[in-house]
Amino acid sequence: MKKYAELSREEQKAAYASLLSEYNEYKSMGLKLDLSRGKPNSDQLDISLPLLSEARPREKCFSENGIDCRNYGVLDGIPEMKRLFAETLGLKTEYIAVGGNSSLQLMYDTLTRAMLFGVLNSPRPWCREEGLKWICVAPGYDRHFKMTEALGFELLTVKMTATGPDMDEVERLVKDPKVKGIWCVPKYSNPTGNTYSDETVRRLAKMECAAPDFRIMWDNAYAVHDLTEDGDKLLDIFEEAEKYGNLDRIFYFSSTSKITFPGAGVALMAASPDNLKQISKYLGVQTIGYDKLNQLRHTTYFKDAAAVHSHMMTLAKFIGKKFEITLKNLEALEGLGIAEWTKPRGGYFVSLDVMPGTAKRVFALMQEVGVTLTSVGATYPYGIDPEDKNLRIAPTYPTDEELDLATRILTLAVKLAALELLMK
Ligand SMILES: Cc1ncc(COP(=O)(O)O)c(C=O)c1O
Repeated sequence: MKKYAELSREEQKAAYASLLSEYNEYKSMGLKLDLSRGKPNSDQLDISLPLLSEARPREKCFSENGIDCRNYGVLDGIPEMKRLFAETLGLKTEYIAVGGNSSLQLMYDTLTRAMLFGVLNSPRPWCREEGLKWICVAPGYDRHFKMTEALGFELLTVKMTATGPDMDEVERLVKDPKVKGIWCVPKYSNPTGNTYSDETVRRLAKMECAAPDFRIMWDNAYAVHDLTEDGDKLLDIFEEAEKYGNLDRIFYFSSTSKITFPGAGVALMAASPDNLKQISKYLGVQTIGYDKLNQLRHTTYFKDAAAVHSHMMTLAKFIGKKFEITLKNLEALEGLGIAEWTKPRGGYFVSLDVMPGTAKRVFALMQEVGVTLTSVGATYPYGIDPEDKNLRIAPTYPTDEELDLATRILTLAVKLAALELLMK
């Protein structure tokens, strides 16, 4: 197959006409499909149902150190939940503070606390400083970007590469004392699915930052979301940061949202003991404690890290199939010189770069045919994709049949939009 740009005008016209008639057939079907949401399908949620149906008589309401989980108290989580997270994520238990049902909320609390009170080594609360900036690795997670935008940071875009953020650029930006932090999704990043290389993790851990209270928001949301037994390996950022005397730089987050139930799982924050000490002062004012019964439910269901792994391998059968369908259909774009896409080994997304200047048109074509995609630009700070080329595909929510249909139509839309631009 020739590249589209190398076709003669007549060949382009003929290809366009034939694709359009195929597209119009789909259009007449009155479809209503959704590729926009990074949510599990209900088949996946069914796998975790035993967690809810487990009987909980009185004697099963106590943690291993005798805490009555039906009652108030215990700010940082019951010991068995900390141990399960520590084993599963390769963290030290003393770094862990278990939270509520959402890691995103912990991130928001962490940043608003920094605004109001500062973090360890802050000369003053962040809200007392002018012109603060935050590094956003893009394409990335829209909710991260919105959070720092809402808190008044100027967002600085750094390009995401196959090995993580463009580190030359990150190292240059952190020389500015106004730059207070960076968002990172280090494993199976949302949306590219790439995992940071050892070299990237090391450079983040050791880089010289002008701000004395610079923080890395290390959102390891997809830490155990491998599609195969030999998943990507991520270097331990705490161990690296400690080597360079930068242990306090790391604020780590994760949750069981996409292990058990999004919105009804258990989240955690991990940080150095000094950081946790500083935080607990304010946390104790905010809450008497999170939901320990849910922590117990999780630790009763998952006896250890091996149980989590085997559960994830069961989920991988469902998610792997979705990735397979998506990637198989994207092959229709191969060799045309109009698109590139990632082939993740885990996580929840595939990132598709179409011909620059056509992503919005692809979105519109998909909408006309009844398929919703994540809005174009959502993966960039301020919701603006400067090249109008990135599309985030979230394959998990539709059924296999719906996904197959939606991604077939997507390749048609990508081709149509590219030809329209070339024929202009
Ligand atoms: C990178 C990333 N972080 C956090 C979240 C949300 O996590 P939680 O449900 O723990 O708030 C998501 C959900 O899609 C995500 O993709």
